Amino acid sequence: MCGIIGYIGSKMAAPLLLEGLQALEYRGYDSAGAALLQSGRLDIVRRAGRVENLKTPLNELAQGACVGIAHTRWATHGAPTEHNAHPHRSADARWAVVHNGIIENADALRDRLVADGVAFASETDTEVIPQLLARAEGAPLEALRQTLAQLAGSWALGILCAHAPDALFAACQSSPLLIGAAQDGMYLASDAAAFGDDVFALYRLNDGEMAVLRADSVAFYDSEGAPVRKEAAPFSRRAHGSDKGMYTHYMRKEIDEQPDAVRRTLAQFFSDAGALRLPALLPSSPRRVFLIACGSAYHACVTAKYVIEELAAVPCEAWVASEFRYAMPLIGKGDVAVFVSQSGETADTLAALRLATVHGAHTVGIVNVPDSAIARACALVLPTLAGAEIAVATTKAYSAQLAVLYALAAHWAQAGGQECTDFLDELRRLPEKISAALTSEARAKAVAQEIHKEEHAYFIGRGVDYATALEGSLKLKEISYLHSEAYPAGELKHGTISLIAPGTPVIALACTARLLPKTAANIREVTARGARVFALTGAGADQNTLDAEQIIAVPTAHPLLMPSLSVIPLQLLAYHVAALRGCDIDKPKNLAKSVTVE
Ligand code: M6R
Repeated sequence: MCGIIGYIGSKMAAPLLLEGLQALEYRGYDSAGAALLQSGRLDIVRRAGRVENLKTPLNELAQGACVGIAHTRWATHGAPTEHNAHPHRSADARWAVVHNGIIENADALRDRLVADGVAFASETDTEVIPQLLARAEGAPLEALRQTLAQLAGSWALGILCAHAPDALFAACQSSPLLIGAAQDGMYLASDAAAFGDDVFALYRLNDGEMAVLRADSVAFYDSEGAPVRKEAAPFSRRAHGSDKGMYTHYMRKEIDEQPDAVRRTLAQFFSDAGALRLPALLPSSPRRVFLIACGSAYHACVTAKYVIEELAAVPCEAWVASEFRYAMPLIGKGDVAVFVSQSGETADTLAALRLATVHGAHTVGIVNVPDSAIARACALVLPTLAGAEIAVATTKAYSAQLAVLYALAAHWAQAGGQECTDFLDELRRLPEKISAALTSEARAKAVAQEIHKEEHAYFIGRGVDYATALEGSLKLKEISYLHSEAYPAGELKHGTISLIAPGTPVIALACTARLLPKTAANIREVTARGARVFALTGAGADQNTLDAEQIIAVPTAHPLLMPSLSVIPLQLLAYHVAALRGCDIDKPKNLAKSVTVE
């Protein structure tokens, strides 16, 4: 959620740190800060708000320093103010620390330090780390080892010590941290997107490990301080390219990238002759399937529950990961647990994965970041090949997740002897149909014009249309701050219909032909109370049948594949509403791209 960048080498650190922070800003953006180390002196600059606010003061501070650490913060402990921004320093000004993660025993450690007379300067959990470092004994690496031994929780740390001007220290536990080797120095980052163009090799720190970066070398240690050997993986920043090109927003660009993302993703699962081929490691007849994720990825799971049960007749449950991890789920041997995550770092999804593993389920990851924690912890990974997704609101990764889940459903259908030829034929053609769905932009924009000044909106649908309504509603509220709710179309009258007033916008999904008369009846229930209905249909219904003010036509496909098509105008609707309301589309307030805290 927060982002870390560090550099030690022969170049000026400040511009590299700023570039890195800008690349990381999509992960957290409520405050930012940096520390520079030169001639045994640590200088720190921090600002509330965007990285932009740090630019001038950091450049003024720079004056030739070649060692530095920097951070973008997403507040967990303490308000997003300047004094809570990272880096945090020890009371004796000897240590500076940037931290991603949560120190779970921070309160107890702070109480102990305060009782010993240490004065704290922030409300953060992080500040205990520099204060503990300052009180530890021995050389800096030994002080770090002693400090880490007292912490509980998760951390990715970048640390500078005024007494070790030629070193940058790092440590990690349950929060990703990478080291990039470049011609002129070493980088430290929580996300490869922050690395400079010259990084050619990459190391990943494992849980419990520490590292000491110097201008021309890096050494790794385990939690006892014993040296660890590590192989570097080749790295090219171009492969991680994330340029906005001619687009104003990453989100709009990523919406357009969906046909390619789905094409690439599906291509992994079809032979040249067009047969579906999933890895042999995938159990072919699971007793039950558990689909577990957060946010939009959970909505992909809700969609897949309908698809897997209807197509493959395998009992299936969709779970929000933060619920699953504290429930007493009846999961065990013979069950397949599927974890869906763009980032592969979502803390709740990772915890649910660990629980399912302990219970003996076969674990499968559907993940967009290949080397992520979730990918590494699953028995089998079915990658989404969406490419780097920068906008906080997911679009192309969501579409790629649906594509993998469809392939899984078809695999289990075939293995169980269920007929799914039509489904597979249409699945192969899905990328073209998604391209066709993108032509709905003008209609989506027209609906955006109608609703962008409203305060509330409702999304309704039945079956897979309900699952897509959930996603459309989340997309709208997360980027435009227009409050919206999604309901199964038949459920509205059990309470929520009391909120429908003359003029209330209702976005009705009527893309499932067999349920059309039912959804049409639910639409009449809301128009009878004055709602303005904007309907999406691929089922050939018209404005009169659906009693709608406007219709957005969606290309038709197999009914179970319609979510991949109907979600496109909903993404475009959210985008245009947010644009009309003047919102910061790629970086909505309070959100982070990768949610690495519980
Ligand atoms: O990285 P993940 O897919 O695990 O993230 C899960 C959710 O945080 C994510 O889908 C979130 O809901 C998005 N902001 C939705 O656009």
